[in-house]
Amino acid sequence: MDKELICELVRNNLDRLDPAQLLHNRLYLVLRQVILDGQLHGGEQLPSTRLLCKELNLGRNTVVRAYEQLLIEGYLEGRTGSGSYVSEALSGRKNFASPKRLIGTRREGLSRRGNQIASHATSSAIQRGAFIPGVPDTEQFPFSTWKRLYTKHLNRESGRFLDYSGGGYGPLKSAIAEYLGVARLMSCHPQQVLILNGSHQALDLCARMLCDVGDRAWIEEPGYWGARNVLRASGLTTVPIPLDDKGIAPAAQDWETPPRLIYVSPSSQYPTGTVLSLERRLELLEGADRTGAWIIEDDYDNEQRYDNRAVASLFGLASRQRVIYQGTFSKVLFPGLRLAYLVLPEDLVEAFQIGNSELYRGGRLIEQAVLAEFIAEGHFTAYIKKMRSVYRERRDVMRAEMESHLGGALSLSGGHAGLQLLYCFTEEVDDAMVASDALSKGLIVRPLSMYYQDKDLVRNGMNLGYGGVPVERIRSAVPMLAQVVEERIQATRRSRLAR
Ligand SMILES: Cc1ncc(COP(=O)(O)O)c(C=O)c1O
Repeated sequence: MDKELICELVRNNLDRLDPAQLLHNRLYLVLRQVILDGQLHGGEQLPSTRLLCKELNLGRNTVVRAYEQLLIEGYLEGRTGSGSYVSEALSGRKNFASPKRLIGTRREGLSRRGNQIASHATSSAIQRGAFIPGVPDTEQFPFSTWKRLYTKHLNRESGRFLDYSGGGYGPLKSAIAEYLGVARLMSCHPQQVLILNGSHQALDLCARMLCDVGDRAWIEEPGYWGARNVLRASGLTTVPIPLDDKGIAPAAQDWETPPRLIYVSPSSQYPTGTVLSLERRLELLEGADRTGAWIIEDDYDNEQRYDNRAVASLFGLASRQRVIYQGTFSKVLFPGLRLAYLVLPEDLVEAFQIGNSELYRGGRLIEQAVLAEFIAEGHFTAYIKKMRSVYRERRDVMRAEMESHLGGALSLSGGHAGLQLLYCFTEEVDDAMVASDALSKGLIVRPLSMYYQDKDLVRNGMNLGYGGVPVERIRSAVPMLAQVVEERIQATRRSRLAR
């Protein structure tokens, strides 16, 4: 079918859907319907995301998200260098059961808050491949050890492990306190550790226990959108505070309307990789003391550090107890484990324990017991050590490949820790367009602009994950990415000249 015709077909169907639905969901539903109805055949090429944006007057991210979803569900396949095609596996098939019910589905039942959460969706359905950021390698995980420990705990005392977990499994809390003492120079008692199902839940608990609806929370700009969304969903007003090369940089007048909560990632700021300087750390602690603000220190991946030792935690530096430390096993082990933890100032422990039990109850005792033993038997530190060298090699190859193919077009930020590298463009380029061009070649690029709350502060760049990408794939994918970037730079220059 002619590309213009496809655009027309999509436009007509899009208009029939409930406008309260998120645009990218509507677009996904329409395209899926058109494919299932057989109006587009297996092997047929879809309009480029650029054309669809232009014809339907849609944002680039909207179209990219819809295509991404179709890609992972198998309706589309990307072919190197030539765009997105209806999956060959669908050729020759007719009379798919069309889920017509979905077309026209309304979001009437949602609250204002629910709609706000849904309309700020930023997390990706794709969690694997070059160059998804922030994702660890899971292929090298010691599955047999994990399985042995799991089986052991399932067989023994199983009943006990099927209960609610309250604040967490004692031996795991002790193992974490001990580990943090060594790795992060933190002196804390196991009772101060509270185990939760992931960092988002941990942050949600902090927001609910420490803040009221409408309170202000400072967040880093650019910063981790997941944290921003959680804080907003808890009714807080997020205030973006820009970064400089020393980390979060609140101005004197920012302190005049102090926040209730300050969310920072001091060891390796996400996504820039900046380490919060000592001077800023002290300023932040002093400001929090003075104004009664709480600091959440998100120490999400300090284990992946390649060139220098980790700086000590903010928690360990605080003389007064205004810092809550947040850690996760998502990066160091695997994200599906859903185990994170807070280390709380002593005065908060009891209330947070109650809050956790009332709000979430807690579970996953078997996993917690397995993890405690995994740490106790030494597998945890061995795995960290092994993966650090795997990631270091990938980081080095990625940096070298990027430098040799795109050196002049980009500047690197940080890169001493973590699972991803952040590159800023050295000239004007629309990073969302680069991401959509890359996607049509099967590459995932997170545009830096997506990490900003204040659109006036936006810088364009690419956050590129290498953690889960083998060296050979880095070597083959970087030249493809370089071609996409070069073409986009050339196109931008041409349109600038034409203006
Ligand atoms: C800065 C930062 N903190 C926390 C998390 C999420 O951790 P969890 O899987 O424990 O929710 C992420 C995930 O990408 C992250 O980038």
